[in-house]
Amino acid sequence: IKKLVLLISGRGSNLQSILRACQTGQIIDTKIAAVISNRAAAPGLVVAQAAGIPTEVIDHRAFPSRAEFDIALQQQIDQYAPDLVVLAGFMRQLTDAFVEHYPGRLVNIHPSLLPAFPGLHTHARAIAQGVCWHGASVHFVIPELDAGPVIIQAAVPVHTSDDPAKLGARVLAAEHEIYPQALSALLSGRCKLEEGRVYWSDPIPSCANT
Ligand code: GAR
Repeated sequence: IKKLVLLISGRGSNLQSILRACQTGQIIDTKIAAVISNRAAAPGLVVAQAAGIPTEVIDHRAFPSRAEFDIALQQQIDQYAPDLVVLAGFMRQLTDAFVEHYPGRLVNIHPSLLPAFPGLHTHARAIAQGVCWHGASVHFVIPELDAGPVIIQAAVPVHTSDDPAKLGARVLAAEHEIYPQALSALLSGRCKLEEGRVYWSDPIPSCANT
C-alpha cells in the first residue's frame, strides 16, 4: 500500500477530496499516513482526526529559522516513509534543502493557471488583471516558488460579476477534481517526472499536459 503525507495550514478541503478519493477507489491501494499542520488551529486537523488519520502539529513559530523548522518537518514526514508528500493548502515557503530531499515526490496545488499569478491573493489579482480564464494547477515543487513542472491544470471562466470569493469557490471546486486525478496518476505510474518534465501515458486527461 502506498502512503501519502499531507501538509496543511488551514481548512483542509483538498485533504477532504483526497481522502474521499482514497476511500472510493479513485486513488487505489493508497492511504493518508499522516496530516501535518504548522498551525494548531487548522480546521483540516479535525477532518483528519475524524477519519482516524494520525495528525501532528509543528508550529513554525517555535523555531528560530526557516531552515530549522524545515528540518523538524522533514524528520516528522520521513518517519512515515511516504511515497508522495502532498502540499494541500500549506502556506509556508520551503527551503531548497527540504525541496531537494523529495525529488519527484513533493507536489503542490496552487490556485491559478501557473505561471500566471504565483504567490498570494491569486483570485483578486486575476480579477484586477481582467483575465477571462483562471484556474488551478497541480505541480511538482522546485525551490523556486510556484514554478515547478505542471502535472494537471483546470481552467474556469471569470465572470464580470465575480468577486474574489465567488471566483475562489469556482476554482476550489476544480481543485477538488484535479488533485485526486493527479495523485492517482502519479501513484499508478501513469504520470511521471523525468529529467524535470512531466510525461503521461494513455489515457491523458483532457486537462493534463501532453
Ligand atoms: C487552496 O485553494 C489551495 O490551492 C491554496 O490554499 C487553499 C487551501 O484550501 N494553496 C495555496 O495558495 C498555496 N500557495 P484547503 O485548506 O481547503 O485545501
